[in-house]
Amino acid sequence: MNKSPVDLASAYRLLNPGPVVIVSVAAGERDNLFTVTWNMPAAKDPPAVVLLSGRGHFSLPFIERTGEFAINVPDVSLADAVYGCGTTSGRAVTDKFGRFGLTRQPAMKIGAPLVAEAVANLECRVEVIHDVLGSALIVARVVAAQACNEHVIDGQWSFDHGLQLLHHLSGRRFCSSGAEHVVR
Ligand SMILES: Cc1cc2nc3c(=O)[nH]c(=O)nc-3n(C[C@H](O)[C@H](O)[C@H](O)COP(=O)(O)O)c2cc1C
Repeated sequence: MNKSPVDLASAYRLLNPGPVVIVSVAAGERDNLFTVTWNMPAAKDPPAVVLLSGRGHFSLPFIERTGEFAINVPDVSLADAVYGCGTTSGRAVTDKFGRFGLTRQPAMKIGAPLVAEAVANLECRVEVIHDVLGSALIVARVVAAQACNEHVIDGQWSFDHGLQLLHHLSGRRFCSSGAEHVVR
């Protein structure tokens, strides 16, 4: 196998990211959405996740103030909305749901609305926020979760019915995952 050096600034791209997600936040009457590809599970028990958010994002103070947010997992049909939520700021766009054709769905345990079109939604409460190299590393417990019956069976993704999750490569480039490989 021939290999060439990779610029270190791009090395993180070599780690397969989880699916890119849309994070929803709210405080009072105002809500907002932003796209996050730097997300990962952090613990099974208690169930916890980690996100990295830029310090300048309009959404971050909502998370800091309310201690809540939802992770909405899109499939490929939402690629335009994913890109849109990640390239506009709530400072300029007051209703990203309306702008990108997404529907609010009340959450079970938190104030922020869920994205109804997402194939899964995880409701989260912040445990701690650390400053890491200028970004906010948000550790949060998952307090409720729901997923599309067709695509999640026994709590696991199933690709039997055409599900394609979306992964961010760079800029406008995404790829999808849609096939299962079972090791015998
Ligand atoms: C595909 C994609 C992935 C992104 N991933 C992240 C991420 O992991 N963390 C982050 O802080 N911002 C990420 N962003 C940038 C924010 O989503 C973007 O700055 C957004 O406009 C912030 O919105 P807000 O100012 O309304 O909060 C991503 C953007 C795109 C398009």
